[in-house]
Amino acid sequence: VKELERLNRILDMVIRCDQALIRARNEEELTKQVLEILQMVGVTARITQNEPSDITGYRTSLRFPLEVEGELLGYFEVFTEDHLSEIEKRVLENLAGDIAHKIATLRYRRVLEVSEERYRAIFENAPIALMEEDFSSIKRFLDRIGSEGITDVERYLDEHGEEVLECLNNILIIDVNNACVKLYNAKSKTDLLGPLSKIIGRESIEIGRDLILSLYEKGIEFEKENINYTLDGKPIVVYTRTFILPGYEDTLERVIVSIFDITRERRLENELRKTLEETVEAFSKLVGLRDPYTEGHQLRVAKLACEIGKRLGLKGEQLKDLRTAGLLHDIGKLLIPGDILNKPGRLSDYEFALVKIHPKTGYEILKEIEAFSDIANIVFQHHERLDGSGYPNGLKDGEIILPARIIAVADVVEAMLSHRPYRPTLSLKDVINELEKGKGILYDPDVVSICEKILEEGFSF
Ligand SMILES: [Fe+2]
Ligand SMILES: [Fe+2]
Repeated sequence: VKELERLNRILDMVIRCDQALIRARNEEELTKQVLEILQMVGVTARITQNEPSDITGYRTSLRFPLEVEGELLGYFEVFTEDHLSEIEKRVLENLAGDIAHKIATLRYRRVLEVSEERYRAIFENAPIALMEEDFSSIKRFLDRIGSEGITDVERYLDEHGEEVLECLNNILIIDVNNACVKLYNAKSKTDLLGPLSKIIGRESIEIGRDLILSLYEKGIEFEKENINYTLDGKPIVVYTRTFILPGYEDTLERVIVSIFDITRERRLENELRKTLEETVEAFSKLVGLRDPYTEGHQLRVAKLACEIGKRLGLKGEQLKDLRTAGLLHDIGKLLIPGDILNKPGRLSDYEFALVKIHPKTGYEILKEIEAFSDIANIVFQHHERLDGSGYPNGLKDGEIILPARIIAVADVVEAMLSHRPYRPTLSLKDVINELEKGKGILYDPDVVSICEKILEEGFSF
């Protein structure tokens, strides 16, 4: 009967310990409750994280390492005046195993909680706008086109702009920080939550295409400039950086988007660019004012040069530089005496020598402006000729940069096609004859071919 009673108490202890293990929300709670339960059956126990010290004076003392997957979490120690049976020892050993697993779970959960707390604190207080978004709509879209057997995703996206937009509109904003509320002029966080459609417009199709493609290729980061709208409908220029939270690469359910407002920078940049363009045009006109025969010459050269440049494959900055160089290529003439510039008929050798300095003078003026260093070089070389017969340096072939070779052709063509008081305007046929004579000798043959084609197509300045 005594044995049965003891067994009963042990069973009761095991059940109560199980319940305590399930309920415990942290390690302190767990230790306290388990030890209390053991105390009731006359067992003193300790759970220690350190190397245990020896305690004497008990008939039985047992020590179980708390181990999970090879990692030692601490020790479960048991002391009692009673003599323990094998069954009782086994029960305690099992209990140690359960305690170890529970501690491991609690510690892991705590690590997650701490990292989530840290993440929340950073998210909330970051000075830049942050959104947490759910990209499941893109995941569904990619799955669907995958199941339809579409392999050329890039082409599919190009041809299905509406689907791309719908996909983007269905991205969900699931959380935003304070900076975000401010940026989008929202009254509260909840105002911003929900479909992304409330802050993007049709122009996002292109970015959406790139984003989806990047996700298709398993990219976890994506950066792009875009237009967004505040909740009161104002467009803002934003630079966004998209980053999938670790562990969500497959579902795309948690994506962090950081948003930089660059509206002001872009506006200032545009104003600056406009000012610079106006300044260039004003200087360009200044040359024309001093030399009425060539009024508008630089503008027309710039126009023809750009047309040639475009067909030769120049783009963006290169094309812009070519236009600016065209507009300013004769700026050095500002330093040539007016009576020489305006002199009809032939110039004396001395006068011509003065005129020939203008590319170098132009270079000297423009090189002072940092942003114009490339343009200065084009201006420097616009009277050079392939066979070395040009000026001021007698450069040859490849020594002359391409934009200068383009301006050279546009320059002579414009001069030939324009009225001069000392000679009649040349016909298109004459101009092309002249070009043919100089093709490959004075002028770049490719530039000449393209220029001839442009003229034959009926180019007008
Ligand atoms: Fe010139
Ligand atoms: Fe010129």
